[in-house]
Amino acid sequence: MATEHKTFTLFTFLTVLLVGLTSVMARPSYDNEAMKGAYFPSWAQNFTPSSIKTELFTHIYYAFLTPNNITFKFNIEHSEAIQLVNFTSTLREKNPSVKILFSVGGAAEGPVLFSRMASSPSSRMSFIFSSIEVARKFRFDGIDLDWEFPQTPGDMVNLAHLLHEWRLEVQKEAESTSRPPLLLSAAVYYSADTFLSGPERAYPSVSVSKNLDWINVMNYDYYGAWNTTATGAQAALFDPESNLSTSYGLGSWIRAGVPRSKLIMGLPLYGRTWQLKDPMSHGIGAPAIDVGPGPDRTGVLTFAEVVEFNRERKAKRVYDMATVSVYSVTGDLWVGYDDPKTVTVKIGYARNLGLRGYFFWAVNGDYKWKISKTASKLWSL
Ligand SMILES: *[C@@H]1O[C@H](CO)[C@@H](O)[C@H](O)[C@H]1NC(C)=O
Ligand SMILES: *[C@@H]1O[C@H](CO)[C@@H](O)[C@H](O)[C@H]1NC(C)=O
Ligand SMILES: *[C@@H]1O[C@H](CO)[C@@H](O)[C@H](O)[C@H]1NC(C)=O
Ligand SMILES: *[C@@H]1O[C@H](CO)[C@@H](O)[C@H](O)[C@H]1NC(C)=O
Repeated sequence: MATEHKTFTLFTFLTVLLVGLTSVMARPSYDNEAMKGAYFPSWAQNFTPSSIKTELFTHIYYAFLTPNNITFKFNIEHSEAIQLVNFTSTLREKNPSVKILFSVGGAAEGPVLFSRMASSPSSRMSFIFSSIEVARKFRFDGIDLDWEFPQTPGDMVNLAHLLHEWRLEVQKEAESTSRPPLLLSAAVYYSADTFLSGPERAYPSVSVSKNLDWINVMNYDYYGAWNTTATGAQAALFDPESNLSTSYGLGSWIRAGVPRSKLIMGLPLYGRTWQLKDPMSHGIGAPAIDVGPGPDRTGVLTFAEVVEFNRERKAKRVYDMATVSVYSVTGDLWVGYDDPKTVTVKIGYARNLGLRGYFFWAVNGDYKWKISKTASKLWSL
């Protein structure tokens, strides 16, 4: 009896295992596919769509398009239309399987236009119809909302309506044209419900989960030129002393109920610089007096520029394993950034959490594709 029972259990176990494996294997590869995203800043100098190493990415975002601030429709000028056609046709030619989206808004646009657009059903509809029209006309696979950031609880309610109505229209359009539905995503704040400024508020996580295909969580910009009193790890994975970290931010989205299969971890291909108060005191959080190198006092260097900075100035590199970040220091100049080593740890962390993938801001910041290659290889292991 005991033996029979054991045999039965083993048989049941094997069957369950086999059925499980079969269903995993039978799932469309689309479902399992890791997401390896990257934003393309359309204003970048000396960097064209054809220079993107498309085999390293699954999703590429054109940054940015912005609707008119009165009609909330997109008015694409002739020169931009040419750029969009070039973007989608160049990328498709290089890699037919890469998904191409356009991203709406961005940090420079700020929150006001979106807040007004989302505040009434008619302006939401103008925006939604126009966005679908632009996507189809220029052969994009989807649309990415980059509202940085909803400022009030009211904005969050309106965002929920916008996403719901957008999804409905995208479904209707797909049915009436018999085409695959456009993809819908959004770039969101590092945390679902902890904001460093403004009133307390939380993203509408039910609407986000239901209506978006995924969200790109902006796990960077924790510290920067807006505060020159101290250095900071702008994309720290961990911070034992505060909630300003990628692990906290991703955890907040998971606690908010957004499925892990819809969460994409953000990785910066840039660093942030400061001028130290005292060259001898150069840790993370060391006193500073100004921003460091970078154009227009932004205190921003791309990873490629950081590599050059390190080489030219023979900067000392320091790994900080507590935060999973690296910084370089030379004299009173300091830059904190991510490199292949920190990205390796972050990719391992995101995979263990069961997230869908990662994305980079921005694709032109890498040095000889080193970080992009490291991330892509690790996620596919
Ligand atoms: C809309 O944009 C125009 C052009 O950039 C600007 O002059 C105007 O102030 C904006 N209007 C509103 C209501 O934001
Ligand atoms: C895109 O533009 C580039 C640079 O202007 C040009 O060399 C290339 O032929 C264009 N490609 C397509 C597919 O339009
Ligand atoms: C600036 O950064 C320091 C160190 O992170 C922090 O203690 C201080 O509160 C910040 N100041 C402002 C105005 O945010
Ligand atoms: C971090 O967030 C948690 C809630 O998620 C809160 O209980 C805690 O006080 C916060 N810690 C700090 C240092 O702000």
